[in-house]
Amino acid sequence: MAEVIITESEDEAGRIYADCAANLIRTKPDCVLGLATGSSPLAAYQALAARVKDDGIDVSRVRGFALDEYAGLDPRHPQSYRSTIERTVIEPLGLDPAKVHVPNGNLETIADAGHEYDAAIEAAGGVDLQILGIGTDGHIGFNEPGSSLASGTRIKTLTERTRIDNARFFDGAIDQVPTHCITQGIGTILKARQLVLLAFGAGKAEAVAETVEGGISSFCPASALQLHPHATVIIDEAAASRLRNRDYYKWAYANKPSWQSI
Ligand code: F6R
Repeated sequence: MAEVIITESEDEAGRIYADCAANLIRTKPDCVLGLATGSSPLAAYQALAARVKDDGIDVSRVRGFALDEYAGLDPRHPQSYRSTIERTVIEPLGLDPAKVHVPNGNLETIADAGHEYDAAIEAAGGVDLQILGIGTDGHIGFNEPGSSLASGTRIKTLTERTRIDNARFFDGAIDQVPTHCITQGIGTILKARQLVLLAFGAGKAEAVAETVEGGISSFCPASALQLHPHATVIIDEAAASRLRNRDYYKWAYANKPSWQSI
C-alpha cells in the first residue's frame, strides 16, 4: 500500500517532496526527476528551488522527463507543457534545459514519439523520483479512465471532464484546450523507482479514495499506485476527507520512526 501523508497545507506537502528530492540530488547528482505540470506540484517545485538555493545544491547534472504534452499545441504556446516546465521547474531550479525532456506533441512525428520517449527514459537509466498530480477523474499523466495499466507512452484522447478542468489555463475556454495529448503510460510511470502523488482540495477527495482504498482498476488509473513498491500520497485534509483509514494514516505518520524516510 502507498504511504499516505495528510498535511495541513500545500506548502507542508511541498517541503516533504523537497526534502526527498534534495536528498536524492545530493546522493545522486545526475538523478532523473519525473516531472508533472498543473497546479498540484507548484508548491513542491518552489520548495525545492528554495532548498537548492539556500543549501547551494549543485543541480547541473540533474536530468528530467515530463509526463505529458498536448498534441498539436505549439511548444512555444504559454500553456504547452514544454513552456510550463520551463517556467515552473527549469528556470526556478536552474536546471540545464538540454537535460529536461518533454514528450513531443508535433502531429507530424507523434506516431513514433511515444516509443522514442520510453526508449530515452530507459537510456537515461529510468526515473528515480516521479512527482504526480491526479485528475478529478483519477487520471495520472493523461491516462484517462480505461487506460491500460501496462501502457507505454502514447497518444490519448482527453475526456471532457479533463478539458473542463484544464480550461482554467486557457482563459476558461474549453474549445482552446486540445482534445488529444501524448502521455507516459501507466506502465511507464510504474517503472519509476519512487512515486510521490500530490493532491489538494475537496475536488480530489473521491479520486484519492478510489486510488488508495478502492480496487485496482483501469477505471481509476491512479489506483495502479497500489502495485508500486514505493509510492507516497501526500494530500491535504480536504483531499483526504473520503478516506476510511484516515486516522490510521495520521497516526502512522505522527509516529514514524526517525530512521524511516518517505
Ligand atoms: C500534468 C498531469 C496531470 C495533472 C492532473 C492534475 O502533467 O500529468 O495528471 O497532474 O490533471 O492537475 P492539477 O494539479 O492542475 O489539478
